[in-house]
Amino acid sequence: MSDIIFLDRINKFYGSEVVFQVLFDINLSIKSGQFTAIIGPSGSGKSTLLNIIGLLETPTSGKVFLDGLDTSRLNKDELAACRNEKTGFIFQFHYLLPEFTALENILIPYWIGKGRPPGKVVDRALHLMKRIGIEQLGGKYPNQLSGGQQQRVAIARSLINNPKIIFADEPTGNLDSKTSNMVMELLKEIVSENNTTLVMVTHDRDIAAGADRTIEIVDGRINFDSAHTY
Ligand SMILES: Nc1ncnc2c1ncn2[C@@H]1O[C@H](COP(=O)(O)OP(=O)(O)OP(=O)(O)O)[C@@H](O)[C@H]1O
Ligand SMILES: [Mg+2]
Repeated sequence: MSDIIFLDRINKFYGSEVVFQVLFDINLSIKSGQFTAIIGPSGSGKSTLLNIIGLLETPTSGKVFLDGLDTSRLNKDELAACRNEKTGFIFQFHYLLPEFTALENILIPYWIGKGRPPGKVVDRALHLMKRIGIEQLGGKYPNQLSGGQQQRVAIARSLINNPKIIFADEPTGNLDSKTSNMVMELLKEIVSENNTTLVMVTHDRDIAAGADRTIEIVDGRINFDSAHTY
């Protein structure tokens, strides 16, 4: 297996007058097809790290390599295109667009990247919906869906472009434990079928225990990495 994600000495500072360092010299390689859980206390820098790996934020210094590509060399448009093509994102709060139906929301990453989806992409969306048990909900709007249903729509949306990497930030954080288990099982099954790399921030010890690798962030540094214990 090769490294699909490689971080080279990532530092992140926030603020201009009062400068605050959030991440300190993070080096990390993640193998293709693995499920990595990122854990750690609130405020330790987990979301910042995930957003930097996922190209939603830029590091103050250091480089992010995705799928062999040095993303520090990309301009803003190229970064957006790389993100759209190679990655999918699932957040704690799903960020579905309220004025679009569930099916339209799932198709949005395709629209952004390539324009009007052809029939085979719509079929793929319908197939994904069926796969995760929301096939009857395509015509509903987000405010007509439960939290678990909305999160399943967000999962289908993250998968529509068949990304190599999925980033998830507390994807089950606002679900009850039964729905959370179901959503996790589905996500794990789908990523393993497609050999997708999954990087997930979670507070849930059970979810972390089910990952191939666990990384703990404390005060902006890697405090523990299960890949280095064997
Ligand atoms: N845009 C920002 N501007 C200034 N400070 C920020 C910004 N985003 C995050 N921070 C600070 O950086 C630190 C790390 O935040 P981050 O969101 O990465 O933590 P986290 O580990 O994801 O926490 P949680 O588990 O609560 O989600 C926190 O002290 C936070 O206040
Ligand atoms: Mg966070």
